[in-house]
Amino acid sequence: MKRIAVLTSGGDAPGMNAAIRAVVRTGLNKGWEVFGIRQGYEGLISGNMAPMKARDVSGIIQMGGTVLGSARCPDFRSDEGRLKALRALNQNDIEALVVIGGDGSQRGAYALSQMGFPVIGVASTIDNDLYGSDIAIGVDTALNIALEAIDRLKVTASSHQRSFLVEVMGRNSGYLALMSGIAGGAEAICIPEVETDPEALAVELRDSYRRGKSHAMVVVAEGAKYNADALMHYFQKHRDRLGFDLRATTLGHVQRGGAPGAFDRLLATRLGAAATEHLARGEHGLLMGLIGSEIMGTPLEEVVTKKKELDMRLWELAEVLAK
Ligand code: ADP
Ligand code: F6P
Repeated sequence: MKRIAVLTSGGDAPGMNAAIRAVVRTGLNKGWEVFGIRQGYEGLISGNMAPMKARDVSGIIQMGGTVLGSARCPDFRSDEGRLKALRALNQNDIEALVVIGGDGSQRGAYALSQMGFPVIGVASTIDNDLYGSDIAIGVDTALNIALEAIDRLKVTASSHQRSFLVEVMGRNSGYLALMSGIAGGAEAICIPEVETDPEALAVELRDSYRRGKSHAMVVVAEGAKYNADALMHYFQKHRDRLGFDLRATTLGHVQRGGAPGAFDRLLATRLGAAATEHLARGEHGLLMGLIGSEIMGTPLEEVVTKKKELDMRLWELAEVLAK
């Protein structure tokens, strides 16, 4: 019998629970023991783990967040921290580990696999900045939450002929901003990948009123040089440049806390199941991700060395559609 463990790490993402459930139930179905590790790498280092049974993952597929808990764990970045983790895994006779998380978590997974321990990653982050998966667990739900906010803000913006800055998360990636901007019909989008000139932005927004629009929505990525705070600061200093009323809303963690939609539940289920499937074949050191319509394993080495690029054709399309 094989004994494996699963943890969730980094920023929680809607769908992580569905992935835990899939790992546990497909692992049990193979006759394995499956341990759940609490609070990500923190729990791994301290050996905070317990066996999970089928009923332990009942009723969680529809829940946002992660029942195992998550953490940002600076200690895991050091050899010393990872050696402690390795010791805890060995003391509990764990033979393989599934890491459900984003870019940083997969860097940790790669570092552990480099120390000779079998690890499989599952792509999960609302930022969608992880190489090896076209879309990660949580992205679709976070996008829909952002869209609901944008749609609502548009209603009030139109009533007052106002302009709104809506800041979405994404760390250093503009993916969430670009996609929610396109799907929400934004007049402008500010992302880290493209330099924003606030002066040109003001001209663009004024122009959209001239073209007969009743509002101007700007979706701003938190990682953009001119995020919502910086733009508000700029326009407060240069009030004369605007000529219309401007408000800012930062969505923040609201985007992360939602119940996963059908897409994320299904993606998480497929990725979790693929993780145990690969382990059963003796394959590890891979990230489970969705490429095209297929679940594929990408070597963790590639995942941590290659950068996921934004499709700039969509940026150009957004500009055309904003007219
Ligand atoms: P996410 O996985 O959502 O991107 P973080 O970037 O915070 O979130 O990473 C989660 C955790 O992964 C970190 O708190 C740390 O424990 C671990 N981690 C991140 N980067 C590395 C690294 N280069 N080496 C080892 N562990 C890392
Ligand atoms: O990585 C997910 C994410 O939500 C990013 O979009 C954001 O920058 C970050 O986590 C926020 O981190 P924390 O929850 O630690 O404030």
